Amino acid sequence: MSAPNNSYDPVEVSALHPDEVERMRTEALDAIAKAAGLEELKEVRIAHAGDRSPLALANREIGALPPAAKAEAGKRVGGARRAVSEAVKARQSQLEDERDARVLVEEAVDVTLPFDRIPRGARHPLTTVAERMADIFVGMGFEVAEGPEVEAEWYNFDALNFLPDHPARTMQDTFFVAGPDGAESGLVLRTHTSPVQVRSMLDRELPVYVVVPGRTFRTDELDATHSPVFHQLEGLVVDEGITLAHLRGAIQVFVERMFGEGLRTRMRPSYFPFTEPSAEVDMECFVCRGASVGNPDAPCRTCSSEGWIEIGGCGVVNPRVLTAAGVDTERYSGWAFGLGIERTLMFAHGVKDMHDMVEGDIRFTAAFGMEM
Ligand code: DAH
Repeated sequence: MSAPNNSYDPVEVSALHPDEVERMRTEALDAIAKAAGLEELKEVRIAHAGDRSPLALANREIGALPPAAKAEAGKRVGGARRAVSEAVKARQSQLEDERDARVLVEEAVDVTLPFDRIPRGARHPLTTVAERMADIFVGMGFEVAEGPEVEAEWYNFDALNFLPDHPARTMQDTFFVAGPDGAESGLVLRTHTSPVQVRSMLDRELPVYVVVPGRTFRTDELDATHSPVFHQLEGLVVDEGITLAHLRGAIQVFVERMFGEGLRTRMRPSYFPFTEPSAEVDMECFVCRGASVGNPDAPCRTCSSEGWIEIGGCGVVNPRVLTAAGVDTERYSGWAFGLGIERTLMFAHGVKDMHDMVEGDIRFTAAFGMEM
């Protein structure tokens, strides 16, 4: 009779020997306790609780045992594996807690520290308003022209029909540029953008349709309404068959696009050496539209209850100017205008004081945003 193989002793399967299982378990728990970080713990887990760990391999041996021996060996190995996996879990959560606490300290941001970033800049509203003004004329087919700020007296005055004794030439208005040893240089800081009229006629093919935004200079003291440095937008048209009606139309389109639909414009007779006839251009007050005139109960601060706001000068180009620029006056005629950019900004955005425009305080500029 063949005896059942009940003499088979699990202790003889070396991997399942209680001492051996105990050794594997202790070794695993030791390694887990010593794992100093989450990365290291991951390696320890693979080595001691993974599919190819000594305890997992031992577990496989159980299948080969006789039924009677399986239960005991299963209990022993299973208990060790459970202990190891629980120890891994416990150590894992302990290490995670430590990491979280460390990150909180290391990555803390002190929101009370002083602000040391360079504040973001903004384009100056004079620049953006000048661009908007010029764009309206570009939309009507004009080109943008430029000229120098240090200008020859000839362009600034003579070519524009300012006679040598014209008061605007005197020291009261004009910054003269001294030559070597204080001699006369024949140069001035341009007092207006009108010299670019002459430059444009000389530089370009006719017909000419240009607008000239630019910086201009006069010997004024800085106050609420004056500045020694200011800006103008010059306009010039020279073509065949050009009349004052075209000028009226262009100014009308500009005023409506810049300040509002349906605003009327008017011209009052005036005098400039470089235009004949000459006029001042007014636009209807875009705030009260004339309702404040003769109505003391509803005064208008924008137009001082006059109903009209002056925006610049204009006129038919004096033939003497065309001649100075070499233009055939039999064939061509033209008109010109000059608009104040500071004045336009004051009206368009309710800026009350010239100081705000020149002092360079970022808080003033930033209020206009980053308009392109
Ligand atoms: N240049 C003039 C000024 O600075 C403004 C001006 C008036 C320009 C009439 C013009 C014009 O082109 O036609 O006061």
